[in-house]
Amino acid sequence: MKRIHVGIIGMGTIGTGVAKILLEANSPLREKLDTVPVLMGIADCNPDAKNKIALPPAVTFTTDANTLLHDPNIHIIVELVGGATIAKEIVIKALENGKDVVTANKMLLALHGSELFRKARQHGKSISFEASVGGGIPIIAELRDGLIANKIECILGIVNGTTNYILTRMTKENVEYGATLKEAQTLGYAEKDPTMDVEGIDSAHKLAILARIGFGVDVNCENIYCEGISKVELSDIWYAHELGYTLKLLAIAKKRESGLELRVHPTLLPHEHPLSSVNGVFNAICIKGSAVGDSMIYGRGAGEMPTASAVVADIVDVALGRANITFNTMKIFSGQCERVSIADM
Ligand code: HSE
Repeated sequence: MKRIHVGIIGMGTIGTGVAKILLEANSPLREKLDTVPVLMGIADCNPDAKNKIALPPAVTFTTDANTLLHDPNIHIIVELVGGATIAKEIVIKALENGKDVVTANKMLLALHGSELFRKARQHGKSISFEASVGGGIPIIAELRDGLIANKIECILGIVNGTTNYILTRMTKENVEYGATLKEAQTLGYAEKDPTMDVEGIDSAHKLAILARIGFGVDVNCENIYCEGISKVELSDIWYAHELGYTLKLLAIAKKRESGLELRVHPTLLPHEHPLSSVNGVFNAICIKGSAVGDSMIYGRGAGEMPTASAVVADIVDVALGRANITFNTMKIFSGQCERVSIADM
């Protein structure tokens, strides 16, 4: 059995989940694969992160990410630091040092995706990012590979678990906004700064990534109309309900004659719409393709193990030599969109 060596940088909620899967004694990975990913090292600036799970002696723990980035024995760097500053330095250094990168960092890719994919190309390395959108749902693989025969006409999704959790609790239990936000934070769904979630920015970052793959455009996030749920009141939800609508925060990308319409905002959906019944931390994305017609993908959009599941899928893609597909596909899709516009609302 061949081994591919993995280093995790960032031992937060998702990093811990990834380590758990890679260290699992009866891992399905060992049954299913000829090349197994082996966790070699973990880096986190907080020394206490070492104690989050029991690490076998063969796994190095360090507070200095450079230890892993310069280790010639590590093939894949899993960047789970978050944010767009230090994470960007880590990804660039990993690529320059000849390592493939796996990341769940939507902000990083939404803001610096083109530069980073270019860098990956220069170094003949891949950046995989299944966990950046939809948590555990394999939406990136679906859009990139499963629907490759389609011209994508429309993407409509609930892509933020925190806000969907909040809106669901408000709708079903009449719980006030502030209290449910605290719950979502406790459950580990929310970003470090929940403003990113509740103001729709996290959804806009994810929409930029989906638009890149679905429509082949390099989206400047400032061109996405973005409105969150922080001003939604219980009474808005009740009145909408009486009129036959459910309130959801949607990320929408639609092809129009005039260009591509990109927006994130609270939306009234008829109760019978499939997205109306997507509750709690679940995400769902509806895609309309020229050949397939309407399709929908659904699952847990945030949380330790669902997101770790997507990160490990990317690690396996690298192990099996499939990650270059991502790389080539992104090369085709990295053209600039000249006509990104916000439709009349
Ligand atoms: N804060 C994000 C969410 C985490 O709630 O969806 C997953 O991207």
